[in-house]
Amino acid sequence: RIAYVDGRFVPHNAAAIHIEDRSVQFADAVYEVWGVKDGALLDSDGHFTRLERSLGELKIAMPVGREALAEALFELIRRNRLRNGLVYLQVSRGKARRDHAFPGPDVKPCVIATAKRVDFAALVKKAETGIAVKTMPDQRWARCDIKTVSLLANVLAKQAAKETGAQEAWLTDRDGFVTEGSSSNAWIVTPEGALVTRPASNAILNGITRRTLISVAQGRGLTFEERPFTVDEALAAREAFITNASSMLMPVVTIDGQPVGNGHPGSLTTELRTAYQDSAV
Ligand code: PDD
Repeated sequence: RIAYVDGRFVPHNAAAIHIEDRSVQFADAVYEVWGVKDGALLDSDGHFTRLERSLGELKIAMPVGREALAEALFELIRRNRLRNGLVYLQVSRGKARRDHAFPGPDVKPCVIATAKRVDFAALVKKAETGIAVKTMPDQRWARCDIKTVSLLANVLAKQAAKETGAQEAWLTDRDGFVTEGSSSNAWIVTPEGALVTRPASNAILNGITRRTLISVAQGRGLTFEERPFTVDEALAAREAFITNASSMLMPVVTIDGQPVGNGHPGSLTTELRTAYQDSAV
């Protein structure tokens, strides 16, 4: 495997950043994850636009132009002979002696990227069974709209879910509404057949897969409601699923051990998964 570190392609096991990189001490960095299909980045522009927004919110300068960065990612895909999988990109504020406040303008952002193969057949198989989710309080900070590598609350939530045999955590706000998953957006299909997901705000990461799926749903003339939903509403829903770049659209078949609908992936979920897969570019 080959990784990208600050303009260089290096063997993955030798790829390293400095111990004083600000991502190490402060999680002072943002990231993106692209799906890769047939050697091409999925939703390429959407992810770059969100990357630029995340960097802007943290006042980190875009290290190089979008085209140069895209070129580096394509080269990474090429050197790894990657057909289907994921590309991870991280931009930190750079290397500086530890001090909470920003370093001076001489400190340049540090860019790293890795590529990972994904077993597409295994993913399809998993989607035929669906996953279990566990609900728990959302303990993250107030700017979940920024895709930062400050993911400790997400890590703890995912682990807690895993320890109960679930594959994803659904995080709930103080009023009992689901914000999103620890690394995905959360969706339900109501008994009336409406597709529901929480509106974009500081409380969730506005997923690129989420946005693409909204246009897929609207293109198919489905009833779509952008509003928060509670755990109780999700338990009474006909179907539930999650979206993200790594699993695209994954059916949720149980919540806290209780079945959603008949306990199998829903028909609309399966239809949308296929439609998303076919339309993904
Ligand atoms: N996570 N919400 C959170 C908290 C996420 O971490 C992610 C993605 C999403 C979905 O965003 P998108 O559809 O753009 O992938 C929502 C990535 C995959 C990760 O951390 O690996």
